[in-house]
Amino acid sequence: MKKSFRIPTLALGALLVAALTGLAGLLLNSQRLLNRTVSVVAAPVPYTSGPAALVRGEYLFKSRDCAACHGAGGEGQLHIDDPIGLKVRSANLTRGAGSAVMNYNESDWVRAIRHGVNPDGRPLFVMPSENYNRLTDSDLADLVAYIRSLRPRDSAPAGFELPLVVRLLHGAGQIPDAAAKIDHNLPPQKPMAEADDVEVGRYVAQTCIACHGAQLKGGRIPGTPPSWPAAANLSGDAGGAMRRYPDVRAFSTLLRSGTRPDGSRVAPEMPANPHFSDKDLNALFVFLQSLHQP
Ligand code: HEC
Ligand code: HEC
Repeated sequence: MKKSFRIPTLALGALLVAALTGLAGLLLNSQRLLNRTVSVVAAPVPYTSGPAALVRGEYLFKSRDCAACHGAGGEGQLHIDDPIGLKVRSANLTRGAGSAVMNYNESDWVRAIRHGVNPDGRPLFVMPSENYNRLTDSDLADLVAYIRSLRPRDSAPAGFELPLVVRLLHGAGQIPDAAAKIDHNLPPQKPMAEADDVEVGRYVAQTCIACHGAQLKGGRIPGTPPSWPAAANLSGDAGGAMRRYPDVRAFSTLLRSGTRPDGSRVAPEMPANPHFSDKDLNALFVFLQSLHQP
């Protein structure tokens, strides 16, 4: 009697030890991934200046969601504070106290924005650099010119608190950071012909891939709290969300204000952005339509 009782107890004990060792291993691995060095060749993009650069740079800062996460003045802010214990504070991009970019040089901007790696070679964790890897040299330079023109503001340094489950998933490789997703050897995107809507639209759609996926097929966004809905399928698949958008007007209303054609509201996790230009939205629409196979 006693013996047969002891065996399952031992087996359970062994299982428990194995499980705890496994969990500890995942936590260690998460730490190791956050502290790893990512070596990238970040060829400097020379600084630009002048009114035209600042206008384009401001447009990109606002339309590509930098402002949504880093604050309208670029000062950094607590932009995720979820009850599951997930807190994320974005970096101060101005030259005030707590600045992340005070000592940045031309290569450091490229390394952070296009590659998701800080000047020490460590991966950024939340910053969605996969959305920005394809920025052309000229757009990147204008964006940096605008950020460097921002009035210095003080704020707390960037940082994040991750709940245990997020750290375990991260340690298990389920939440790859931007630096892990980016092909660091791709040469910079060449400028596209202004009149080529499909190509301009493909370019703008890069801002969507961190959530909607590289193929725009949507699905759950790794690392986000359970309360977040899955991102919609924007690819040409039958049943994809683009079927709801017969014309560019309906599509633009959704992207600018978050209201669908039937008047319902999209979840707030889908970042509606009033700053998109007509030209970019039109191109984005033409590109997404082009994904539909007849
Ligand atoms: C989803 C929110 C989000 C968006 C969008 C975003 N960032 Fe960030 N960014 C962050 C967070 C959070 C950090 C802090 C580092 C990290 O990710 O762990 C950061 C860090 C940075 C850093 C500092 C890196 C360092 O050296 O520590 C720079 C530079 C930066 N972002 C620029 C930009 C620019 C430019 C854009 C728009 C093209 C942008 N970010 C869009 C969230 C965001
Ligand atoms: C921070 C993550 C995030 C980013 C970035 C993002 N989306 Fe979304 N998107 C979502 C989520 C989540 C949903 C699902 C919302 C829902 O179910 O209410 C969604 C839904 C949508 C929908 C479907 C609306 C409907 O009718 O249900 C469209 C269209 C869309 N996104 C387009 C885009 C485009 C285009 C971009 C880039 C310019 C983009 N999204 C960027 C998260 C994101």
